[in-house]
Amino acid sequence: MPGTPMPRPTAPVSAGRYGHLFRPGYVHRDLYASPELFAAEMRHLFGNTWVYVGHESEIPQPNDFVMRTVGRRPVILCRKEDGGLSVLLNRCTHRGALVCRTPRGNARHFTCGYHAWTFLNDGRCTGVPLKHAYGSEYDRADQNLRSIAVDAYRGFIFASVSPHVPPLVEHLAGARDFLDQWLDRDGARPVLVQNGDMQFQTHANWKTVYDNAGDGYHPPFSHTSMLRVFADRYGDVDMQYYAKNFDESPLLSKDLGRGHTTLDQRPAMHAESAWRRQHVSPGREALEAALVDRYGAEEALRMLDASTGSGLNLNIFPNLLIIGNQIQMLEPVAVNRTVVRWFSTTLDGAPPEINATRLRLQEDFPSFGEVDDTAQFESCQHGLEDVPELEWVDIRRHMDTGAGRTDTDGYWREPISSDLHLRCYYGAWRRIMEEAAAR
Ligand code: FES
Ligand SMILES: [Fe+2]
Repeated sequence: MPGTPMPRPTAPVSAGRYGHLFRPGYVHRDLYASPELFAAEMRHLFGNTWVYVGHESEIPQPNDFVMRTVGRRPVILCRKEDGGLSVLLNRCTHRGALVCRTPRGNARHFTCGYHAWTFLNDGRCTGVPLKHAYGSEYDRADQNLRSIAVDAYRGFIFASVSPHVPPLVEHLAGARDFLDQWLDRDGARPVLVQNGDMQFQTHANWKTVYDNAGDGYHPPFSHTSMLRVFADRYGDVDMQYYAKNFDESPLLSKDLGRGHTTLDQRPAMHAESAWRRQHVSPGREALEAALVDRYGAEEALRMLDASTGSGLNLNIFPNLLIIGNQIQMLEPVAVNRTVVRWFSTTLDGAPPEINATRLRLQEDFPSFGEVDDTAQFESCQHGLEDVPELEWVDIRRHMDTGAGRTDTDGYWREPISSDLHLRCYYGAWRRIMEEAAAR
């Protein structure tokens, strides 16, 4: 489906409450180092937009739940008894304790550990011990947990603290087209997120992690050793990052609107066979042989091409990153601490060899490559926090080279090493933060 034509993103200008943080081609270090600005982001940015909280397949049964966050706010994502979704602020209406302290489970109600107030998973307060002490006018209905807005797009669940947000599909803008393409690769078999997640905490600002998923400049330099291992084993297969000027490769960075962007590596990865261009993975030959035995060489390769390599990094602002076949969710903790969660995915009804292959391929990231990135995240944080004399962070790549143009799908594209993604999401950052400041 063709996308909505996007105007070329413009450089931020210095106006409004936060204008002092932006110059054409630069953003201020405070965006990564100021605790006050971090607190404002948690309240106003994450409080005024759709935030990814989980996938429908994580809570398939009535009364399933998972604990999540919206910025720093603890929330509970619930499958209600009737099959609908609810997202509750995990903050007891009595004194503020967490009413749910278990990361995941199945429960029709939650009982606060402090004074045992009890709430159904739709938020209704059903139990207050020794209620008589509040007087005869007391109504338990006034004590319900706060429900916030929730909506899902093809299994991806988003929540918003503010009811004043556009419909989810409008918010997703062009990211919806790319999510569709990601989901429809192999006959639209439903994606399952049921393997738990790999999570770690990095001493870096959440935006540094978000930046990196859209940064097509760093791979050949930050991931040198990983790419060399792949090259030694399989030859020069890794998406043309080996080219001396990889900006001339078919790899692209695209603006999808509302701060969302993609690194589209498919023009290189799928030029021959995505499967043939995959990284090393243990047991790869045996899994392929089993599929060939069962389905024949042509169909086996078609399935492997369709469901293994995605070739997309999709940044959905502010906290959802689709990387290869994985879903990455960011949980900001402090200005210099972020929990990064990687959820691997399988396909409902796919041959077991396909799902095994997907899981094995997901071992290169995060297990292999993420340590490279994390080292850079923490190094950036150190430099940005501890060198106050240098205030500005450079986001100029391809801003003025004239290399961008509208692609055939209607989206603005620039070469892979562009800082387009930063200029795009900082535009969304400013719009949401300024609108909140104006209220
Ligand atoms: S704080 Fe939850 S019952 Fe008192
Ligand atoms: Fe990386």
